[in-house]
Amino acid sequence: MTTQPLDVIFSPSSIAVVGASRNRGKIGYEILHNLILNDYQGTIYPVNPKARSVHGIPAYPSVLSMPGPVDLAIITVPVDVALAVVEECGRKGVRGLVVITAGFREVGGAGIGREERLLALCREYGMTMVGPNCMGVINTSPDIQMDATFAPTPPLRGGISLVTQSGALGVAILDHAKSLGVGFAKFCSLGNKAQVSLNDVLAAWKGDPETKIILAYIENFGNPKNFVRIARDATKRKPVIAMKSGRSEAGGRAAMSHTGSLGGSDLAAEAVFNQTGVLRANSIEELFDYAMAFSLQRLPRGKRVAIVSDAGGPAIMCVDELVANDLQLAEFSPATIEFMKTWAPQEASLNNPIDLTPQGSLEDYRNAMDAVLSDEGVDACIAIYVPPVRVDEVEVARVVWETAAKHAKPVLTNFLGRTEESPGFVELVSHGIPSYLFPESAARALAAMYRYAQYRERDEGRTQTFDADRALAEGIIGRARAAGRTRLTETEAMAFLDAYGIQTARSKTVASRSHLPATAKEIGYPVALKAVGERLVHKTDLKAVLLDLRTERELLEGAERIAIGLKARGVPFEGFLVQEYVADGKEVILGMTRDKVYGPFLVFGLGGIYVEYLKDVAFGLPPLTDQDAARMIESIRTYPLLTGVRGEAPCDIGALREALLRLAQAVQDFDEIAEMDVNPVIALEKGKGYRAVDARIVLSPSP
Ligand code: COA
Repeated sequence: MTTQPLDVIFSPSSIAVVGASRNRGKIGYEILHNLILNDYQGTIYPVNPKARSVHGIPAYPSVLSMPGPVDLAIITVPVDVALAVVEECGRKGVRGLVVITAGFREVGGAGIGREERLLALCREYGMTMVGPNCMGVINTSPDIQMDATFAPTPPLRGGISLVTQSGALGVAILDHAKSLGVGFAKFCSLGNKAQVSLNDVLAAWKGDPETKIILAYIENFGNPKNFVRIARDATKRKPVIAMKSGRSEAGGRAAMSHTGSLGGSDLAAEAVFNQTGVLRANSIEELFDYAMAFSLQRLPRGKRVAIVSDAGGPAIMCVDELVANDLQLAEFSPATIEFMKTWAPQEASLNNPIDLTPQGSLEDYRNAMDAVLSDEGVDACIAIYVPPVRVDEVEVARVVWETAAKHAKPVLTNFLGRTEESPGFVELVSHGIPSYLFPESAARALAAMYRYAQYRERDEGRTQTFDADRALAEGIIGRARAAGRTRLTETEAMAFLDAYGIQTARSKTVASRSHLPATAKEIGYPVALKAVGERLVHKTDLKAVLLDLRTERELLEGAERIAIGLKARGVPFEGFLVQEYVADGKEVILGMTRDKVYGPFLVFGLGGIYVEYLKDVAFGLPPLTDQDAARMIESIRTYPLLTGVRGEAPCDIGALREALLRLAQAVQDFDEIAEMDVNPVIALEKGKGYRAVDARIVLSPSP
């Protein structure tokens, strides 16, 4: 016996189907039927108080009346008796439960309490439970052969394991997979996830030798932090391909801050995927496209792709999609092109993408694929075939797989206009060549393989703990809380950042204008002057910021102008902040927003006051490694501006990376911080660091 986690669910020696109905079409009947039909290798016990036997097998009135031990019970009784039979399972010593019965948390009201009692019973008797409200589980391993679902189509055996938060979608996927010839190792419908979660299943399958690829349909990550930790480990061992529906909560709130308003879409989930190397599929179709590529082909070593086609149009569409997905068209060596000239049809175009034209013969396909796959400058090949009248598609398919088999590079195909039933498709897929209905699908699948290959090689980096004056930071937050405030003043916010070693511009607050000259002198001209006060959020819009003041006169005149302007607008303010004026840098934003589901998220973007319009930001979920922080910075569209364009000096990107890590540490230390905007941060030249010149920190209301 192995001792994998969730073994009680996936490798039971005996199964009781509690609620095994005598009536065809009822769920309890269908599950028993599937177990028998698929040759479950253990002992099956139907449980039904009204029947002496079901499906020709002796039935028991209850689990307690059974002679032998029971590893797993599948619960398919109506909800009003479900808790009673679960309790009996506990008393019997059943170790695993798959609860198909619906009517728990998902229906609200009394269902919520029912689910709590169900969970309490599992805890009391030490039972591991999948569900309730689920479709069941499958393990196709020859020594188990368990199909404990009511899905009409039993899956083929294969290396893919699928975990799904939607039972119905699970059935659809199993069904479609069969028509594609895609086989499964394990299947788990999570239902309400009352106990066994997506993370538990991932954790179990990452070490499962039968599972080569994990597919997941995700509605939410449960505990995103655990997901990040487990998925990171899983993706280092095998590809995890996920389809995620539902949107992040981050942007749902009407946030006052810049950072909060940047959430909006699915960016938080996207960040989780980027950080963990989980490949995101945008549709069920794409989920299969990727699954087929990963299960049949090896990973490409590089991004240079050759296309061999008999038509120009689809080849060009394929090129566009490859380039859009960060792959490249390979450049053939002169020797490859010279060789092709010796046999290719006159009309053929021999530069990548190769267009053999409808004149291309089977031998031309073979020669062309052989030539490009032998070329050192090619990492992968996509063969496109638009069936002309004269050539048999099965023969083309055979040429493709025979030639691919001679080389160690991935080959994918697009037989345009052919379906999964066409003989060419069957010939290709049954010989290990993924075949797609459209050229773009082949290109996207290859790009996903390359992304994964890169991810496997990437350095995950290290987490780091910096020295910080935590007591000082606690004091600042504690005093604001004690005063009943949920916002730190700008001075407090800057002091908080200081406590975490974030480089802030030297600054001082004064209540009265008469103190301005001495303070400016102390800080040193040129200075920036800002009005401070509770209601001053968008200071630039309120004309409450003046920059680059060089003399005492400019300073005092400026203060006068700000005061008059704010008075005219009816905005009260409490004083002025005099600050070191930081010139000659690039404005960036560092921030944090707290998502109801994902928890705190770090934000990095370029743009200062333009950030809300550019929306060029990257998100990261703490704990961040140094490489995570580096990737966040590098992933924004305008990153080249930080490295310097047109002869500009590069910014101190290393210092910005450290700032993000320090901010991540601060955010993890203080759960009470709801939002943080350090904006703008002036990124200075390499070696000179950066200066945070404005900061807003919002606390969550006291509990
Ligand atoms: N122990 C064992 N069997 C019992 C029992 C008990 N205490 N009490 C009743 N049964 C038997 C019944 O006699 C019946 O067998 P029979 O048809 O031979 O008489 C069988 O259990 C099923 O009971 P029935 O009342 O016919 O229920 P049902 O089959 O109509 O519905 C569920 C049961 C679980 C399917 C239903 O309650 C349900 O939850 N449906 C939704 C399931 C779902 O959607 N899950 C999520 C999928 S993603």
